[in-house]
Amino acid sequence: MMNRRTWLQTALAGVTTTALPNVWAQALANSGPILTRAIPSSGQRLPIIGLGSSATFAQVARTEDREALKNVMAKMVELGGTVFDTAPSYGASEEVAGQIAQNLGIAQKLFWATKLNVAPRGGGAADAAAARAQLETSFKRIGKPVIDLIQIHNMGDIQTQLPILREAKEKGRIRYLGITTTFSDQYASMIDTMRTQKLDFIGTNYAIDDLFAEQTILPLAQERGIGVLVYAPFGRTRLWSRVKGQTVPEWAKEFDATTWAQFFLKFVASHPAVTCITPATSRVSNMVDNMAGGVGRLPDAAMRKRMIQLINSLPNA
Ligand SMILES: NC(=O)c1ccc[n+]([C@@H]2O[C@H](COP(=O)([O-])OP(=O)(O)OC[C@H]3O[C@@H](n4cnc5c(N)ncnc54)[C@H](OP(=O)(O)O)[C@@H]3O)[C@@H](O)[C@H]2O)c1
Repeated sequence: MMNRRTWLQTALAGVTTTALPNVWAQALANSGPILTRAIPSSGQRLPIIGLGSSATFAQVARTEDREALKNVMAKMVELGGTVFDTAPSYGASEEVAGQIAQNLGIAQKLFWATKLNVAPRGGGAADAAAARAQLETSFKRIGKPVIDLIQIHNMGDIQTQLPILREAKEKGRIRYLGITTTFSDQYASMIDTMRTQKLDFIGTNYAIDDLFAEQTILPLAQERGIGVLVYAPFGRTRLWSRVKGQTVPEWAKEFDATTWAQFFLKFVASHPAVTCITPATSRVSNMVDNMAGGVGRLPDAAMRKRMIQLINSLPNA
């Protein structure tokens, strides 16, 4: 675990300090070690902020883009982050990120979270042989003999695909298994699967203006001892439009947030069911900002209410 001083020095390394916005320079100065949460099924602790990759790593045709993503991944690891969320269906993401991780020599440090799904969207059956082949491709891409987490993407044919993950876990090829969805028409199925299957993780959407998960999914995860990866913590970019032209309130300093990203991430992080949040970014400066959302104080219940009231008072995106 890095101490505050080392964390700050590392955060600033490689970032153009002249271009460093004061707001998050201040947050970094106030920061401490990265907060961690235990995976309920094992006790293994994960840094609360990681990195997502669906849009940002999906199309990486140009060398400059690859260089930028390499710097983003390297920065996350330098700052104590480990969780990288990808999927075979995210275009070039799994392949490109796997190559970057191996070239940087950080593959072993990363908590590699990928997915499995060959079923058609809308409830079709998955071909078991195709699912097994996809799994093997994921192993080749990251180049690790053991993958940390594989989840069934978007609730695709759980009956066929979950047993394939169970078998991989029993053989010690994956450490954890789970299911994901961010589609409202699949929440009931996710909840049912959480109730009836033994899972290590779920992945779902949760943001300050997207609170559905608080009703059943997050409490159920706590009750059943299931870890939660949070996706789309910026409301699928909707929140950026809502706060455009608005300054972060002074009172956010009470929980060490000086940027909107930290405000949104700390809201999510302050829910006790959350194990790790994986915001996507293609910029080192935003990666640093997001990591600062995982250090320092978090809002309490009263503060969370105040935060929601503020966001609800803003126009919809
Ligand atoms: N069913 C599933 O399994 C599922 C579904 C949805 C998402 N996910 C996972 O969750 C990840 C995150 O969700 P998401 O992709 O919907 O996106 P998101 O994390 O909600 O938003 C990413 C967007 O916010 C911007 N951004 C990031 N940090 C910022 C900062 N500090 N300041 C300002 N802008 C910032 C990024 O732009 P810049 O590039 O310019 O920073 C990007 O446009 C995905 O990439 C994926 O890995 C999984």
